[in-house]
Amino acid sequence: MGVTKEKKFLKTGKAYEVKSHPQSDRLYHIEIDKEAIAKFLAAVEEKNISVQVLEYTPYQRQIVASLLQDFVGEDLGEILRGIIHDRESGGFTLGLEGVTEDTDEFVIFGTAISHLVGMPNFDAMTGKYYARFTVKHTDNSDSFLRQAYRLFTLHTDGTFVDEPTDWLLMMKMVEENAVGGESRLLHLDDWKELDKFVNNPLGKHKFTYIAPPSKNVTQTVDRATFFNVNDKPCICFIDQFVYPESIEQAKYLEDLSASLESDESVIELELPVGDLVVLNNLFWMHGRAAFEVNPDLNRELMRQRGRFVE
Ligand SMILES: [Fe+2]
Repeated sequence: MGVTKEKKFLKTGKAYEVKSHPQSDRLYHIEIDKEAIAKFLAAVEEKNISVQVLEYTPYQRQIVASLLQDFVGEDLGEILRGIIHDRESGGFTLGLEGVTEDTDEFVIFGTAISHLVGMPNFDAMTGKYYARFTVKHTDNSDSFLRQAYRLFTLHTDGTFVDEPTDWLLMMKMVEENAVGGESRLLHLDDWKELDKFVNNPLGKHKFTYIAPPSKNVTQTVDRATFFNVNDKPCICFIDQFVYPESIEQAKYLEDLSASLESDESVIELELPVGDLVVLNNLFWMHGRAAFEVNPDLNRELMRQRGRFVE
């Protein structure tokens, strides 16, 4: 990093402004007019579109995306897709600007954004197109997703499913008594040792990925760590679910994870309640910093991940 990136998408639209993100010259932050958000939420209510309606009637998800564009700007989807596809960036944050604290309205707003970006995949963990999950002081889950006091190492999503997972949306729903726990992010082109791991013969090796029981995914898939899209390396990796078959392979994976974790370009994103981040899942890695111990810790995120639509 250090070199200021060319920012192609800076723009003032009908009721939004695309800015450079204060924490990263890769990311954009989009500020939406409060009045436009309020009008969007009122229009959704007027049409009686609840979270349950969105869950049961898939086309209503695109209807809310369309409503958001009506009030914020017809070119919003084009801008968001442009950013997520752009190798130089591939990520943005935006939020509800404090207009509401109703988490159902967070889900509706997040759904409008995700459907402007692409099409969410079915989330087998919840049986819906989205998942809300809580991190608390105690946990008995079978992965590090909900374990508050452990660093959740850098990874990509969708490693153990065979459908494309092109992008990822994470929205902060609730945060109480939380210190730490920031999303840690790394753009592949900022990773100092990228070439070393891409060029290792094991970079093309197809490792087996197996999900733990809580994910409700029984298939196993074999996936190469590195693959090219538009002639640029992309990555598929998560340390918890990959099954190497030799000491050499295990050492490659351990070295790769350690190199990512110690890279100086990792950012710890501040995300206020009601804000969301969308990232290209092919060349951004994400993880989570550990929280400071607090018996009253309560944090909830919503996630959606999906594919691009032509
Ligand atoms: Fe993840």
